[in-house]
Amino acid sequence: MKRENLDKLKQECLECKKCPLGETRINIVFSDGNADTAKAILIGEAPGENEDKTGTPFVGRAGKLLNEFLKKAGISREKDLYIINTVKCRPPKNRVPTDTEKAACENYLLKQIEIINPEVMIFCGATALKSFYDKKIQISKIRGEVLELEIGGKKRKCIPIFHPSYLLRYHSLEEGSPRDLMLKDLTKIKNLIS
Ligand code: SF4
Ligand code: URA
Repeated sequence: MKRENLDKLKQECLECKKCPLGETRINIVFSDGNADTAKAILIGEAPGENEDKTGTPFVGRAGKLLNEFLKKAGISREKDLYIINTVKCRPPKNRVPTDTEKAACENYLLKQIEIINPEVMIFCGATALKSFYDKKIQISKIRGEVLELEIGGKKRKCIPIFHPSYLLRYHSLEEGSPRDLMLKDLTKIKNLIS
């Protein structure tokens, strides 16, 4: 039933022109992961060039780094996660999606959340966080906290984490560095979903 509902939704997205991103996209980036076994939904920002070309989220440089961190934390991308973005089409030049574009695409995202119905949601980066939480909050101030938010008709545990693109700029692994904190946050998430 899940799969059928998601397939139907994807068909809708394939024809979607509800915002200007629909005019420039190559592919709809609908989701990755496993709808049947996912324990958490991870929400990124928006598709980039590689995602637009392949139709799959987080397959470029940031995605590869995300994969490394997930592996280190013992989270299976294929089994434990269902991965989406705040918008399904690539913003030109990888700019941040606007509030209007996010609002146009939000209904698809909420339907995916309702269908998967996860206990846990991961806001990967500031754009995802701001879509569901106080726009003024800084990701570095709130990452790793477990927020109880009502999303898609149900209270869910929502954990903001850094976006992997941010981590591409910081290589240190020392205590308290962005990469150290990312691994700690993902390990916390691993424990929440185990
Ligand atoms: Fe439709 Fe979302 Fe793509 Fe905009 S970003 S055209 S709302 S699918
Ligand atoms: N960055 C994102 O936020 N999402 C993707 O799918 C790829 C890169």
